[in-house]
Amino acid sequence: MDVKLREVEFEEVQDTILKQLKKGVFLTTKSGEISNTMTIAWAISGRMWEENSFAVAVRHSRYTFELMEKSEYFTVSIPKRDTMKEELAFCGTVSGRDQNKFEENGITAKYLTGCPVPVIEACELHVVCKIAYKQSMDPSLIKADYVKDRYKTNDYHTLYYGEVIGVYENSSQAL
Ligand SMILES: Cc1cc2nc3c(=O)[nH]c(=O)nc-3n(C[C@H](O)[C@H](O)[C@H](O)COP(=O)(O)O)c2cc1C
Repeated sequence: MDVKLREVEFEEVQDTILKQLKKGVFLTTKSGEISNTMTIAWAISGRMWEENSFAVAVRHSRYTFELMEKSEYFTVSIPKRDTMKEELAFCGTVSGRDQNKFEENGITAKYLTGCPVPVIEACELHVVCKIAYKQSMDPSLIKADYVKDRYKTNDYHTLYYGEVIGVYENSSQAL
């Protein structure tokens, strides 16, 4: 696929990110020669340390967590609205421990200049991040009903705050 990307301002794409987030976006990681992607729906987009920042929440049971712990970068790829539903469901249920998700149709890795972690080629928008800070959740500081409802198996999240180093839109098809 011949995909043309153009760099866009982070501020311009906030609505697009927020609207798609609840339906799922792709979080991609790479450590050494191993890359992997998974679906995420929890993330925060904003400003930290006077930089555009994007934070993702990864449970410790995920293969992605293992790779994130060894990586300096991550990418977030946002599908065009209401597309890639099957790919999101697949990447949100299958673990990269069991299957190489990049061997599936529609999940093709594309490398951008200056970033060692690929993006998902078929998506309309890509946010490239360098990890600035990470923090494993402290159960004693989480709202009690969230602990009860969302962490029954003690599978807590680590929050990874990425400094946004580039945002790219697929200009062959406007969002
Ligand atoms: C819509 C959707 C949203 C999800 N959001 C998250 C998330 O924000 N954080 C997380 O740790 N897992 C999330 N998951 C679960 C992972 O995507 C799933 O467990 C995946 O198979 C993990 O892949 P991995 O083991 O290759 O990392 C989500 C799943 C779906 C379907």
